[in-house]
Amino acid sequence: MISYDEVTAELSGEDKCLSSKYLYDKRGSELFERICGLEEYYPTRTETAIMQKALPEIASIIGPECLLIEYGSGSSTKTRLLLDKLCAPCAYMPIDISAQFLEQTAKLLKATYPSITILPLCADFTALNALPELKVNHRRKIAFFPGSTIGNFDPRNAVELLKRISSTCGEGGGLLIGVDLKKDPEILWRAYNDSQGVTAAFNKNVLVRLNRELGADFDLDKFNHWAPYIEDKGRVEMRLVSSAEQTVSIGETAIHFERDEYIRTECSYKFSVGGFHALAHDAGYEVTGVWLDPQKLFSVHFLTVTV
Ligand code: AVJ
Repeated sequence: MISYDEVTAELSGEDKCLSSKYLYDKRGSELFERICGLEEYYPTRTETAIMQKALPEIASIIGPECLLIEYGSGSSTKTRLLLDKLCAPCAYMPIDISAQFLEQTAKLLKATYPSITILPLCADFTALNALPELKVNHRRKIAFFPGSTIGNFDPRNAVELLKRISSTCGEGGGLLIGVDLKKDPEILWRAYNDSQGVTAAFNKNVLVRLNRELGADFDLDKFNHWAPYIEDKGRVEMRLVSSAEQTVSIGETAIHFERDEYIRTECSYKFSVGGFHALAHDAGYEVTGVWLDPQKLFSVHFLTVTV
């Protein structure tokens, strides 16, 4: 499901980049799950701890009989915390771009939560304009967008996406969202350049995909993973750096690389609490709750749709 036109356009410009959604095929999703378990990758366990502590409050804000919609559900691990503690949730709709991963997860959830309707939706949520018709009664729609996936989008697109989510949830709706915070660049460095090379494998997997799905001839040994924090942009950039001058072909298209030239494969913006709330207001939400860990590494927010 990689678009040849999109990829060759992205790689033909001055700034070579690839859309970060291409990182998440089955193998990419599995590697990302492994990243989440790394000691150096603080976001997952920090967000989980914040949520665990805030759950009673979150559950009372959300109230009974909601439809929970998750954007980029992956393995739905954090969702289980919610499904366990919410008051009689009616249904859960996990949205994910990896069909195989989604199917597995949905099957496991159905087994654990027989009373909750599980409605898996395989889609690229950045391109999703409306949900399929819903046959479940519910009091309100609550979007769940954990993991700081919002950080993948540059600020303008982030506002667009948050607006889209608010119109999906509609009046009375809410958004529970995890947002990574600005911090000591050393901590960020370790989180995105782990010592076991799992993040490197995750990053290079996109080249494996281009080779397999588009018949490209990337030599994996000639690209190195490198993920610096770019202070003035407030974001971590995942890069694949060419270690030599080389030409790669993707079908009919030749892509030339100078030595040290790189492809940017993902951005991960880091926020201040105030900066994120400004974004949320621009997108038409009111802030109902904010929770941080004691070290202020990560944040979780409950935003209410204002119409
Ligand atoms: C899933 C986008 C939130 O930016 O931290 C982890 C992806 N990339 N390590 C992040 C990722 C490299 C992750 N997000």
